Amino acid sequence: MTRTTIKQLVKNPESVGIGNPVSVKGWVRTKRGNKAINFIALNDGTIVNSIQIVVDLAKFDENLMKQITTGSCLHVTGTLVESQGKGQNVEIQAESIEVYGTADVETYPLQKKGHTMEFLRSIAHLRPRTNYFGCVLRLRHAMAFAIHKYFNDKGYFYLHTPLITGSDAEGAGAMFSVTTLDLNNVPKTADGKVDYSKDFFGKSTSLTVSGQLEGELGALALGGIYTFGPTFRAENSNTPRHLAEFWMIEPEVAFNDINDNMDLAEDFIKYLVRYALEHNMDDLQFLNDMFEKELIERLNFVINNNFVRLGYTEAIDILLKSGHTFEVPVEWGMDLQSEHERFLVENHFHCPVILTDYPKDIKAFYMKMNDDGKTVRAMDVLFPKIGEIIGGSEREEDYDKLLKRVQELHIPEKDVWWYLETRKFGTAPHSGFGLGFERLMLFITGMSNIRDVIPFPRTPQNAEF
Ligand code: 4AD
Ligand code: MG
Repeated sequence: MTRTTIKQLVKNPESVGIGNPVSVKGWVRTKRGNKAINFIALNDGTIVNSIQIVVDLAKFDENLMKQITTGSCLHVTGTLVESQGKGQNVEIQAESIEVYGTADVETYPLQKKGHTMEFLRSIAHLRPRTNYFGCVLRLRHAMAFAIHKYFNDKGYFYLHTPLITGSDAEGAGAMFSVTTLDLNNVPKTADGKVDYSKDFFGKSTSLTVSGQLEGELGALALGGIYTFGPTFRAENSNTPRHLAEFWMIEPEVAFNDINDNMDLAEDFIKYLVRYALEHNMDDLQFLNDMFEKELIERLNFVINNNFVRLGYTEAIDILLKSGHTFEVPVEWGMDLQSEHERFLVENHFHCPVILTDYPKDIKAFYMKMNDDGKTVRAMDVLFPKIGEIIGGSEREEDYDKLLKRVQELHIPEKDVWWYLETRKFGTAPHSGFGLGFERLMLFITGMSNIRDVIPFPRTPQNAEF
């Protein structure tokens, strides 16, 4: 008999039919009962719900039943029946049970419920078997799929930008070196420096912090592109919002100005939130009920309200006039900290905010200069509980202005000659942004630590699993 998924049994029991034979495979969440009957909650990961298996102990060997404990893996065949108990419509009257794998009661770590998130991180190899992480993983999948669907339906092309890069032009964060040199016997040049000409690529290379610069090359040929790939930052920032390895989505669009860019960002996020509400309500409802009572309300709020748009300078004014004491004092020119971003979003505007026109000195070299010569056409999207979820800008398309910034910031021209050439040959206005996938997942799931929305988090001092 072919296996039926538990999702199918919960969502569409008619497809099997009451009284008909059924076969399911999955992992035991709980087993309870009395001397005559046992009830097994079996989950196969296709949906947050488990199916109840009813076992008439008279029909089964005692030794077999002893092997069935929380965490063990079973193949059950039986009859689909209407449930007598509360909480489910159908259950399975077991006729045969095969134990694929036992799980020792003494050592299987997911015995009891109510483990802390910290503990679950330490067992990231088993964490997918919890209801909460099942929800996170199904939502991650749904969001990844929706991201591709959104851009595909709009006619954007998925561009594969390199993960290994020879330039640190972006300056978005500290980089991880990539080398095949023998670290115990590093070749040196005459002046005592590492001789990278002997390294694999014949030059010093690193893992990318962003696909944007190559993304622009694609946009200036195909019109609209997006990247969606892993990104690496070696910052030693141990916060609930930073990972050393995270996924980023970077659309880059020719002929879009900063306003088009803001429209795209807002429409994109709303589409993703709506997609989750329409396709993954079971998972969202579980997370809402178990962890974050305002989750669904917050998701609905975001799709039903316009994001506030305002300039950095106005934002600084609001913060200065707020009377609130911040850990890092507010002054024009500063890079806003999470506490400032969250104050604007959570205490002042009570909705997502898009800040624009930041001081040029705190933003990247490629951002388009405003006429004031002091600010650039940058935009950050700030979200409740998270702070910055998107960073982007209109790009400087003028060759001379861009070259001037490259020189002012002492960026080696040999690293960016190819980027500069796009402004020499058929340059065009264009804009783009980067959405941190795990920051999005924090918002969608209502989790408060970024380590709890990625299967295998990489953070300082932690690369287990
Ligand atoms: O603001 P960032 O550094 O912008 C860029 O990298 C641009 N090249 C994007 C572009 O214009 N194409 O990063 C973009 C987003 C942030 O807003 C944040 O959501 C996420 O990436 N992010 C991180 N997420 C998790 N861990 C980290 N260490 C992150 N650093 C940035
Ligand atoms: Mg940023």
